[in-house]
Amino acid sequence: MDATELDNIEVELFVQALQRRHGYDFSEYAPASLKRRIQQLAEHMQCKTISGLIEQMMHQPQLLPRILDGLTVPASDMFRDPDMFRGLREQVMPLLASYPQINIWQAGCAHGQEVYSLAILLEEAGLYDRTQIFATDLSERALQQAEEGIYPSREAQQWSRNYQASGGTQSLADYYSARYNLLKLDKRLRRNVTFAQHNLVADSVFCEAHLILCRNVMIYFSNTLQDRVLSLFRDSLVRSGFLCLGLRESLDFASASTSFTPFDERLRIYRLNNHPERNLT
Ligand SMILES: C[S@@+](CC[C@H](N)C(=O)[O-])C[C@H]1O[C@@H](n2cnc3c(N)ncnc32)[C@H](O)[C@@H]1O
Repeated sequence: MDATELDNIEVELFVQALQRRHGYDFSEYAPASLKRRIQQLAEHMQCKTISGLIEQMMHQPQLLPRILDGLTVPASDMFRDPDMFRGLREQVMPLLASYPQINIWQAGCAHGQEVYSLAILLEEAGLYDRTQIFATDLSERALQQAEEGIYPSREAQQWSRNYQASGGTQSLADYYSARYNLLKLDKRLRRNVTFAQHNLVADSVFCEAHLILCRNVMIYFSNTLQDRVLSLFRDSLVRSGFLCLGLRESLDFASASTSFTPFDERLRIYRLNNHPERNLT
């Protein structure tokens, strides 16, 4: 048996052990990237083999947050893909404005950069005071950082360029204070945000949302799991509600896609049909 085959067995055992020991099911994550992350995690935790990582995970439950964080890639940016934020600003916000109360679910919020970008967009559209943002992620560690809203200031220039490219008319610096090599986002941006742990693999409908953003999350899932998550979004949206995916993601393959109509296909913004085939459980 060669080293690759041995690795594959260990990866399978790791996934089973994680599910049986801690209840987290990664069996429907895309195998190649999951394997890479498990190998990196083993390395970071100074385990010579994945079997060593399994042993630590089984006997040291306090390591679970670190393990989940390592498996779930919480990478993000403010105003990531600025064209999409411009699309939200110019095309979606004016339509959301017709609702007296707006609910937004941001699924897979990582360290919160997208949540704060959204809050700025809503503030500038004059809609933030009647909006509630539910920001969820599987990783509790990512959620803690998101709630703090503190980032390395080396990001500021790029984020500022993204903000301007998204149609921002002020200076991004108006929304944060900088000290030493850190920037801290204005806590007023957090006033209508609820951070919560939610697992797209296992948990159910989260809220009645007018807009759901789930960007660069489903790319790590198998087609079967993507279909489950899409059904969850369908059942969580109000009629004509909006769904934004990442630019490398699409609905094409999924059976639940018949409930959605492209609103701006290039920007991966979709709208729930008026008569979706719901499947509430
Ligand atoms: C690459 S980040 C995307 C962040 C942000 N949406 C963006 O596009 O910049 C992916 C996030 O999805 C989260 N995630 C992965 N699996 C998840 C699951 N089953 N349920 C909820 N969140 C999950 C990860 O913890 C991570 O924070």
